[in-house]
Amino acid sequence: MPAPSTVVLAYSGGLDTSVAIPWLQSRGHEVVALTLDVGQPVDLEATRRKALQAGARAAYVVDARDEFAEGFLSKAIRANLLYEGEYPLSTALARPLIGRHLVEVARREGARYIAHGCTGKGNDQVRFDLCTTALAPELEVIAPARVWGMTRDEEIAYAEAHAVPVPATRGSPYSTDENLWGRSVECGVLEDPALEPPEEAYAWTADPRAAPDEPERLTVGFEHGIPTALDGEAMPLAPLILALNRRAGRHGVGRIDHVESRVVGIKSREVYECPAAVALLAAHRALEGLVLPRDLLATKQSLETQYARLVYDGLWFGPLRTALDAFVEDSQLRVSGDVSLKLYKGGVAVTGRTSPYSLYQSALATYSTGDRFRHEMAEGFIYVWGLPARTWTAVGERAAVPRLRPPPAS
Ligand code: ARG
Repeated sequence: MPAPSTVVLAYSGGLDTSVAIPWLQSRGHEVVALTLDVGQPVDLEATRRKALQAGARAAYVVDARDEFAEGFLSKAIRANLLYEGEYPLSTALARPLIGRHLVEVARREGARYIAHGCTGKGNDQVRFDLCTTALAPELEVIAPARVWGMTRDEEIAYAEAHAVPVPATRGSPYSTDENLWGRSVECGVLEDPALEPPEEAYAWTADPRAAPDEPERLTVGFEHGIPTALDGEAMPLAPLILALNRRAGRHGVGRIDHVESRVVGIKSREVYECPAAVALLAAHRALEGLVLPRDLLATKQSLETQYARLVYDGLWFGPLRTALDAFVEDSQLRVSGDVSLKLYKGGVAVTGRTSPYSLYQSALATYSTGDRFRHEMAEGFIYVWGLPARTWTAVGERAAVPRLRPPPAS
């Protein structure tokens, strides 16, 4: 018998990826399970054991929290990434990192295949598949859940028939994904976008009604657009984000209810909990508003929209992302300073900002006596600035201007 061909499986410990192990074996594969620690609050040693119990030949857990924070989340903060203006891309940003590790393990193990538990309807399959194509076109992707055609109940029956431990979450009506940057929740009653999400859908954030009655204040220090200190204490990014998730989550900050446009053309309703992301993006934008000029802010904002979309669309390992990174990095040279935040009853407010590069000049902005602004010069400025408007009006008065006709009734 030929040696079974090895497949490296992105293993979460959930039902789909657990059932995938015996399913892949039944097709002649030997399975190596890989789980990345990207900050999900899960006992990953138990996850590793579960993979072995389900039949994996080997199961690895890799602590990738710092790599995730420094290589991905720092870029997301500098570029203020929000997909469709709402979703901080927490799930989407972790996929290329997981994809890169899958490729590394596949090469190390001499595997020809990579597998993931995504279905054919979501974005994550696109992200994993595109990562593999970009980084290792010689590898083939197997997506069991895209082809096996089992319902959830059939999967549970399959698991039981193959002595695969069924995850304790089988009773939960929700599908979730968690990492440092947030928690994604979908399915169950959330599938009706007309209905308010029930409290039980949330796990990281307090119900704002039950949040502390006193506001909590904190200061985030930034260096070149990256958060480096919390309340004056220097901290690497991953622990800073973890601490902020707890502090802001306790105040009910970071709940996002989003009907989003998936890559595959479907509209879906997802609820997110991203306390640190929401707080840090608010602080970062406030600091940029202090130190960057208007034209740079506006140009950067239009590029941020494109950056967010490419991350959502699974194009992390591509030339547009690296080119956008170069622009963003240059824009951040002066984005250093401190931002004060107030957390209170589900909201985060920026209450103060300081920077050695502040463009805010009191002597220019003040309405008190002694300002250095030369008021009389404004008149000449407005004369020249208004020239196009005067010309437009004059031409309109001299020559007959056609009017828009109402559209014909159809
Ligand atoms: N809709 C989000 C995205 O495409 C999250 C996907 C994973 N969500 C989940 N609940 N398992 O990035």
